Formats: sequence, C-alpha cells, structure tokens
Amino acid sequence: MRIDIISCQPDLLDSPFSHSILKRAQQKGLAEVHVHDLRKYAINKHGQIDDYAFGGGAGMVMMIEPIDKCISDLKAEREYDAIVYMTPDGQTLNQNTVNQFSLLHNIIILCGHYKGVDERVRQQFITHEISIGDYVLSGGELGAAVLADAIIRIIPGVLNDETSALTDSFQDGLLAPPVYTRPAEYKGLKVPEILLSGDTPKIEQWRFEQAVERTRQRRPDLLNE
Ligand code: ADE
Repeated sequence: MRIDIISCQPDLLDSPFSHSILKRAQQKGLAEVHVHDLRKYAINKHGQIDDYAFGGGAGMVMMIEPIDKCISDLKAEREYDAIVYMTPDGQTLNQNTVNQFSLLHNIIILCGHYKGVDERVRQQFITHEISIGDYVLSGGELGAAVLADAIIRIIPGVLNDETSALTDSFQDGLLAPPVYTRPAEYKGLKVPEILLSGDTPKIEQWRFEQAVERTRQRRPDLLNE
C-alpha cells in the first residue's frame, strides 16, 4: 500500500512514520508513506497557498490551484483508489472504515488547515471525507497520521503476531478483554485464576465473556449495532 499525504506543514508528519510499527512496515516494504509539501505548489514566489474567503469572514481558505497541481502530479504517476480529505465535518472514522481502506493500494490524504479548502476541491477531487472525532484540530495532519496508522497496522504481515490485529477492540464489534502479565501477584493484586489454568478453551470463553461485559458497561451502543 502507498499513502501520499499532502500537507502545508509536512514537518508535523515526520515523527509518526519513523518509529516502531509504522517504520517497520515501511522497512519490510509492506507500506510506503510519502509526505508532500503543498507549498512547493504555491501560486507565487511568496509561497501562497491560501487566500481570504469570498463574501468575507474570518479565516483563510486553502486555494484550489496548488492542490490541483499536487494531485495532478501524483495522478500522473499512478492511479489512486481514494482521495481522502481530513475534516471535522467528514464521516467519523471507525474500525469498519479503516478495514475497508486497508484493502486499497494507493491513497492520497489531503490535510486541511485554516477554514478548510475551497469547496471546489471537495467537489472535484475528493472521494472520502474523514473526521477523527467531534472536536476541531488545528490541521488535518494529526488526523492523517491517525488514519494512516490505523490502516497500516492491519496490513497482513505488519504486526508480528498476525492474529493480534484480529483480537483488537472493535474488530469483532466488541471491546478487547482485560490482559495481564507477570507477576501473577503484585502487592496482593492477583491475576484471575483462569488465566493461569492452561485450559485454552475455558480461557477463550472467559475472554469472550469479559469482552461482552466490558462492551455492555462502556459501549452498549456497539452491542446494539
Ligand atoms: N481537521 C481538523 N479537525 C479535524 C478532525 N476532527 N478530524 C479530521 N481532520 C480534522
């Protein structure tokens, strides 16, 4: 999978992709992430990529021309399955959407800033609009990092233990059950006996029951779905 992220603050995206799982995924050749500085496509030598909103009002609007040029450059090299715009008024991201994105090959993610992008960008180029939650960030970069992380970690082969993504919270519509590690007792706090029993079918049953109970308590809406 190849993910191209278009941003006017590309430095914000240096760190998330150069550590741990996302770094390894790229080293293994399972995912490629390329960040493109929108200012390289600015309309003038001052690096302009935004302008005042027609009709007035506070806040700058990202212009269509730099975005058009950047997307056209990318499209000239390969076909894209999705062009995603990160925006608080997009569809709220969930595991189901992440799973669908993870099946694609080439994705562009456009990060919004200021008051957002000229509406014609959304009409002409964007295939999906995604929000990472009902709150406003200062730009789409952190949202793009969240989306790319969630997608890349479930690409087969990225996680060492292939089953571990399948037992994540949300993958089966349930929150994950509690987990414990050594020591079996710490300052009088004991691990549930069943986990030490070695009885795998019983442990699986216990985990399922715990997952259902946790979901019922914390996210009953998931059970209704
Ligand atoms: N840009 C600003 N806020 C955002 C959000 N909640 N999700 C995605 N992109 C955003």
